[in-house]
Amino acid sequence: MNKMSFGAVAAAAAFILASGSALAADRAAGEAKAQAQCAACHGKDGNTPIDPSYPKLAGQYQDFLIQALSDYKSGARKNAIMAAQAQALSKADIENLAAYYASLPGSLKTRR
Ligand code: HEC
Repeated sequence: MNKMSFGAVAAAAAFILASGSALAADRAAGEAKAQAQCAACHGKDGNTPIDPSYPKLAGQYQDFLIQALSDYKSGARKNAIMAAQAQALSKADIENLAAYYASLPGSLKTRR
């Protein structure tokens, strides 16, 4: 391997490592945010919403939760209540919240 291709490989490896850590969701931060902002409606455990028309979040797929929150934020999915909730969330908040709720045992399906 000549010097240049080694540099390219090293740069690619550094990029992969950097983007990997940027994508890693912070579940603990998600939990803190969820208890502060979301639990009032979706329940402390994500399974006991205050109204039967409010969805359960616990155990839903992480990528679905990211999609739903991103869509409320962008307006692609329309709901007045959740649009207001999602507006202030950053991309990192959304990933953290999704990681947290996806990690909880859901009552919607067979437990994993
Ligand atoms: C004031 C009550 C309220 C609060 C607070 C609230 N939500 Fe919601 N949430 C709702 C309602 C109502 C819906 C159903 C909206 C719809 O029909 O699209 C919903 C829907 C959702 C959905 C879609 C679920 C599905 O199965 O399609 C997600 C994800 C979600 N909320 C996440 C959150 C998160 C994360 C927070 C905190 C940042 C939060 N919500 C705070 C009331 C609330």
